[in-house]
Amino acid sequence: QPLRSIASEKGLCYIGAAVNEAYFTQESYRATAAEQYNLVTAENSCKFGSIQPTRGEYNFQGCDSVLDFAVENGMQFRGHNFIWARFNPGWLEDGDFDSDELVKIMTDHINTVGSRYKNKTIAWDVVNEALNDDDYGLRDCIWHNITATESYTSYVDLAFTLARAADPQAKLFYNDYNVASSTGWSKGKSDAMFEMVKGMLERGVPIDGVGLQMHVGCGYDMFDGVRDNMSRYHEIGIEVHITELDLACEDKPEENKDCVWGDEAQEEQAETYASLLEICVESEACTNFETWGFTDEHTWLDEGTHPLPFDEEYEEKFAVKAMRDVLLNA
Ligand code: XIL
Repeated sequence: QPLRSIASEKGLCYIGAAVNEAYFTQESYRATAAEQYNLVTAENSCKFGSIQPTRGEYNFQGCDSVLDFAVENGMQFRGHNFIWARFNPGWLEDGDFDSDELVKIMTDHINTVGSRYKNKTIAWDVVNEALNDDDYGLRDCIWHNITATESYTSYVDLAFTLARAADPQAKLFYNDYNVASSTGWSKGKSDAMFEMVKGMLERGVPIDGVGLQMHVGCGYDMFDGVRDNMSRYHEIGIEVHITELDLACEDKPEENKDCVWGDEAQEEQAETYASLLEICVESEACTNFETWGFTDEHTWLDEGTHPLPFDEEYEEKFAVKAMRDVLLNA
């Protein structure tokens, strides 16, 4: 039974995957995505650089085709993303704009893109990866040149306010990496993100959820910390999506002896996928379990890392069976 039908029959959570319209010509790619998943995100084509390559000239083609694919196949569509330090067009990165001009650019972009997909997306990643990895303050990027005013303490607040106005029904998310577990090596950034979100709520900034990217490895095991993190978000009324999960396993024994790709590594990977899905299903906060791609044939990670639930031939890996068991037993 496909993952999506078990999850939806039981009302568990969305089973999502990032897809790239460049591969829609491949029948096996389309068929597997449509059969197994009930939520998609465009890997790149809804990002600023794809959608507004020239100032004021919007190109919705790629983003639209992912939305169309979702609609054709009865899937939800998740918007990714409005504002990010990366994947910006040259005119924006090299523009040397002052604060007022940046506010105008942000306003135009979120208004235009948000209105186009109004009522068509369940959620938007409004701001992506704003926190830096040193002191977990706001990362140095073009948007950081927007000066705070009485109505917003940073560009992050402003972006969320604009997004709410453009599409009032979409749930508005803040999405980041190395923040899934509130314990261990990710505690610092995870705590900082939690405080940021709490502050936004206190200031009345419209935020509904957080995305935990989770580009982690095969042997990821900070499960208690992920569970705790989800429950503290639940306590403050914030929804959680796992947004970009992939579990890379290196194919290079000399670099990582514990991670030679084979049945053993595949089994470990499957257990990690299953444990995280179980945490999501059991958590009152978590409503979407999404991987960044779904087939090892098309991943943004290095070749030989086998990070996704389906192999290069679109056959189910152990991970799919393990995930199916979690859903069946839920
Ligand atoms: C990645 C895409 O997968 C790549 O194709 C692209 O070159 C760069 O962006 N965090 C995110 C995603 O929020 O948008 C990124 O996607 C992966 C890291």
